[in-house]
Amino acid sequence: MLCYEGVPCVYKRGSNPYFPVKLHIAAADSLGVRSMATLVEAKGLKVMIDPGAALGPRRYGLPPHQIEELALALAKEKIRELVRGADAVVFTHYHWDHYDPELPLEGKTVVVKDPEKHINRSQRARAKLLRCPYIAGDGKSIDLGPEELVVSPPLPHGPEGTKLGYVIAVKVGEVLYSSDVQGPVSGAAAEWMIEQDPKTIVMDGPPTYFLGYRFSRENRDAALRNLERIMGSTGVKEIVLDHHLLRDLDCEERFPVKETAKEYGVRVLTAAEHGGREGLHLEAWRRMLWKGEKSIGAAQVRRAYHGGEG
Ligand SMILES: [Fe+2]
Ligand SMILES: [Fe+2]
Repeated sequence: MLCYEGVPCVYKRGSNPYFPVKLHIAAADSLGVRSMATLVEAKGLKVMIDPGAALGPRRYGLPPHQIEELALALAKEKIRELVRGADAVVFTHYHWDHYDPELPLEGKTVVVKDPEKHINRSQRARAKLLRCPYIAGDGKSIDLGPEELVVSPPLPHGPEGTKLGYVIAVKVGEVLYSSDVQGPVSGAAAEWMIEQDPKTIVMDGPPTYFLGYRFSRENRDAALRNLERIMGSTGVKEIVLDHHLLRDLDCEERFPVKETAKEYGVRVLTAAEHGGREGLHLEAWRRMLWKGEKSIGAAQVRRAYHGGEG
């Protein structure tokens, strides 16, 4: 069965409408790698979003520590395992921490950020590496059988006018997933999220480690205001805020969202906290790791990827 010009349609497995929506965040910055790879399971349909992972090439002038290399290997292994069992795969854009064209995607519905429109040159070139049939999802609602995949129009990768290009966000069941919208700093991204009225949001927090130079205080304040609008205008109960935000040791002070969230009865947490796992903010800790001021054992990293999150 095919739904869009040669793209396999996933409506093949027995769906169970009594399944609750399940969320498994496979890898994230709070688990030691640059990633937001997330599996959403709704009515028996498994959608893997942004199955990619990478390490920051330089941080504090330092290359990745060996414990980060281990976390990356384990994250990629976990992502491959989850992709194998997924019915559909989404790539919200073509940065390597979200995208891997080498994954085995045969027989899956693949939905991507439109590689022709609203895209910068480097991401357009990377998109060409994808060799399987795909649906350019921007602005579409895609019928995946038991559930619909609602895709946003292209949203800026951070502040309006950024050179980093555009991303798509998606909603599956009651879960909204939005990579690299940094907060969201853009009003357009916030508007779209409010229209979707999700219960759970998985989102990239702003890059406060660049605060005052590559990310302005005005942008940070806009992200805080937008998040508050989302909390006040939707029925959201839980926001997993991770990725860029977790690269900053002082992120809680520089982006004080948790207090506001309490007033709205919303839980804001990291991907590690969501999965009941130990936080491994390895990139933020890199200088301490290299200096020997902090020691993380291989067993701790293995637990983060093999400790049984449901
Ligand atoms: Fe990105
Ligand atoms: Fe990213």
